[in-house]
Amino acid sequence: MAKHIVVTMPGDGIGNQVLPEALRLLKAVEFDAEYVHADIGWDCWCREGNALPQRTIDLLATHKLGLFGAITSKPKKQAEAELRPELRGKGYSYFSPIVTMRQRFHLDTCIRPCISFPGNPLNFIRKRADGGFEEPCVNVVVFRQNTEGLYAGVEWTNPPERVRAALASHPKFKPFVPVAGADLAISVRIVTRSAAHKICKAAFDWAKKYGYRSVTICEKPNVLRETSGLMEDEAKAVAKEYPDIALRSTNIDAQTMWLTKNPEDYGVVVASNLFGDVISDAFAGLIGGLGFAASGNIGDEVAVFEPTHGSAPKYAELDPPIVNPIAMFLSAVMMLEHVGELQKAHRIRQAIAEVVQEGKVRTYDMMRISGGPKAISQCAASTIEMTNAVLEKLQKHHSPSEECELVEAGGGI
Ligand code: NAI
Ligand code: MG
Repeated sequence: MAKHIVVTMPGDGIGNQVLPEALRLLKAVEFDAEYVHADIGWDCWCREGNALPQRTIDLLATHKLGLFGAITSKPKKQAEAELRPELRGKGYSYFSPIVTMRQRFHLDTCIRPCISFPGNPLNFIRKRADGGFEEPCVNVVVFRQNTEGLYAGVEWTNPPERVRAALASHPKFKPFVPVAGADLAISVRIVTRSAAHKICKAAFDWAKKYGYRSVTICEKPNVLRETSGLMEDEAKAVAKEYPDIALRSTNIDAQTMWLTKNPEDYGVVVASNLFGDVISDAFAGLIGGLGFAASGNIGDEVAVFEPTHGSAPKYAELDPPIVNPIAMFLSAVMMLEHVGELQKAHRIRQAIAEVVQEGKVRTYDMMRISGGPKAISQCAASTIEMTNAVLEKLQKHHSPSEECELVEAGGGI
């Protein structure tokens, strides 16, 4: 029997193109695993009225380890229109299966490393005062609270009377009292002390383990005094247990400006759900964008790893596929690290680094050309060619016995 069972959820669109490629790499490093396919995404919604079927929940509950591609989500009215006719008007509501999965399995810690690969033509460069350019080494790991905040799902258009009455008890609600129900939409931002504590602790633990010298809490406590205030309070409380790691505090808006001024000054960054989502995409933009952005959703029992990109429907039907599989590869690397297969993780990461550094094989995004059917004729590598290039490096340079440092990239600020 295999040592690990991984629930594979390719999902929709390019999820189906990149996930199988990651499995080729896992196989090449002889990851001792069995893979169990699970359905998720838009097709499930259209056919069954549920984008995260119970059978998929059961598989994750049993095997506790998931690798996920991407799903397609569409706005409410479109979701209703695409539901199988027999199911329409029967009370089915579309919910994002990823958000549901995170909440159902308490995957409250989302880890999003944004670490630049030397030689990546998409790396951020900065103009110097003397007119020259420099390429700061970005080594940031974003810790995003994954189950609460503005994504908790507590929201209404036309809120029920008792909700309106409760809100009316707050003096700041006064200007909204006359607004008609149908014209009033409300999303609640919920932060609990225990979840705030947990994400801050996870961030500091990571900083300690991998030698980062600072943790930055990125919120907006001057305006969101209660929810961001609570996040910041917990960050301060946790920081006391880590005297060697500096706690810095930035506001989300200023942070998005500073990250292009001095991204090398940040190490671990921790934020609530929406702000973490935003700031991790912003940092990812400095290290190559969606083709390089990996993530892990970690709970006490279950962990699911996924690229942060979506299903990119416009490229999903292209043959050969053209999208960059590296974000998916790095998600698989995070999974290997999570289960303690550090050497295998290191080998894949190194092989990717070599391919990127060498620059001979680049998908369309790495060439800064438009995606689409013409990309290949413009010398872009296909998704499969990128995997082949990484596989070649794995086979050429890294025998399983080769010595390597058994930690993932860290050591930032
Ligand atoms: P997207 O991430 O699918 O695509 C955004 C842009 O990045 C597009 O130009 C796309 O072509 C490009 N891109 C994405 N992945 C790439 C890759 N691996 N290599 C090269 N280029 C890549 O986001 P978009 O277009 O906003 O959404 C498409 C669908 O995906 C929507 O239905 C959305 O709801 C869903 N989505 C799902 C996510 C998930 O499954 N985690 C996350 C984000 C969006
Ligand atoms: Mg996002």
